[in-house]
Amino acid sequence: MIHVTFVCLGNICRSPMAQSIFQYLVDKEGLTSYFHIDSAATSRWEIGNPIYPKTISQLQKNHIPVVNHVSRQIEEKDNNTDYLIGMEHTNITNIKKLIQNQNIEIKRLLEYANLDKDIADPWYTDDFETTYQEVMTGCTALLSYIRKKHKI
Ligand code: 4NP
Repeated sequence: MIHVTFVCLGNICRSPMAQSIFQYLVDKEGLTSYFHIDSAATSRWEIGNPIYPKTISQLQKNHIPVVNHVSRQIEEKDNNTDYLIGMEHTNITNIKKLIQNQNIEIKRLLEYANLDKDIADPWYTDDFETTYQEVMTGCTALLSYIRKKHKI
């Protein structure tokens, strides 16, 4: 199993959006059984809360099934993941404070699309369309990268 965990600040907007989109792409390519896909927050702010309604609407508008998820903070079990994928630089800094494990690939999502770019927080920008487009670009590139690396 390849474990991929998406990470953002609150785990109610960007990372569950990435989790849903990546799960959709994996399922579409017939690779469901190869992956365990999850998401988590760096903060404790939204623990136990559901995916933000505007995130759900944005996914539904694009016919992407929304995963079942409630916000959680990165924890001990995340040492078992293979990829911790942050949305912005601050996520990466905070992930590295919580998880010190050389075996985990820790990168920003858009690095996989060769872009040196943060995915802005729609909680503050209210621009869920831009977030969606960027997350889709990143997830598509990430899946292609993993398929090559793991030869699947
Ligand atoms: P996310 O957005 O990191 O994309 O889930 C946020 C959601 C909630 C808060 C911050 C960011 N908050 O301050 O509660």
